[in-house]
Formats: sequence, structure tokens, C-alpha cells
Amino acid sequence: MAEKTKAKARPEDALAFLKQEHKALETLSRAFDAALSSEASEKVILGLVADILKGLRTHTRLEEDVFYPVLIETEVVEEPVVLVNMEQHHVWDLIMNDLEATDVSDPRFIPRIIVLVEYALEHMQEEEEELFPEVRRLLGKEALLEMGQVLRDARERLG
Ligand SMILES: [Fe+2]
Ligand SMILES: [Fe+2]
Repeated sequence: MAEKTKAKARPEDALAFLKQEHKALETLSRAFDAALSSEASEKVILGLVADILKGLRTHTRLEEDVFYPVLIETEVVEEPVVLVNMEQHHVWDLIMNDLEATDVSDPRFIPRIIVLVEYALEHMQEEEEELFPEVRRLLGKEALLEMGQVLRDARERLG
């Protein structure tokens, strides 16, 4: 039942779908900040970290497998713009790789998450302010609905 509600709540339009994912990261980031400032248990903090990492990895896959290739194929934005976005995702990957090699007791563990989330939110804000309006204008409603379906299907597969 919960699964059905979740699936139903996913927007049909590709850009609305991606924005919903951005919002989910924002919500997690706020919960993470609140957990840190209220000195929540390590279990709670690590649970939020795991959700943030999973969310970022899934989001990167969806954009790099579905969204960005369409932008390049249809030439709605210049390829270098898409490549810059992909490099920003790549920086997240580098930080996430560092994190995997960082023990939780290491004083750099939490700062690494903070920097990762800061970078990710900044990238997402840029996408929403600079990239999405252009894509909406040039790609059109039909194509965005079609892409939304592909994104929802891919999201289901990634779990
Ligand atoms: Fe992105
Ligand atoms: Fe994004």
C-alpha cells in the first residue's frame, strides 16, 4: 500500500520528477543538520547518511542514463553544459569514494558529508534555475511526459 502511494505520488513530467528528487535530498539534508545540532545518536546520523548517499547515487544514475543523454541527442542545450553537470556528479562520486574509506570515528567523516551535500544542493539549484527552464522551453510537454515515464520506470528498477 505504501509502495503504491509512493509510486502514485511521482510526477509525470520529467522536470517535476527531478525536482521532487531534489526536494527529497533537501529534506534529508535538513534532517541531517537537525540530527547534528541536537546531537542525535550515531545510529540516527548514520541512517541519514546512508539515505543521502543512496539518494545521490540513484539521482546521478537517472540523470546520466536518461535525462542528460536526451539533452545531448536533442541538442536542446550545448553538450559542454551537460558535460559540466556530469563532472559535478563526478565530484560527488569522488567524495563518496573518500567517505567509504573514512572511518566514522575520523573527524573528517561529518565534514565530508557536509561538503558533499552542499555541492549537491548547489548543483541541483543551478539545474533548476538555469537548465530546467531552458529544457522545458525547448523540449515541449509531450517529450517531457515521455521522459517522465522512462524516469519513473528506471526509478522503480533502481529501488
Ligand atoms: Fe544533476
Ligand atoms: Fe538533478
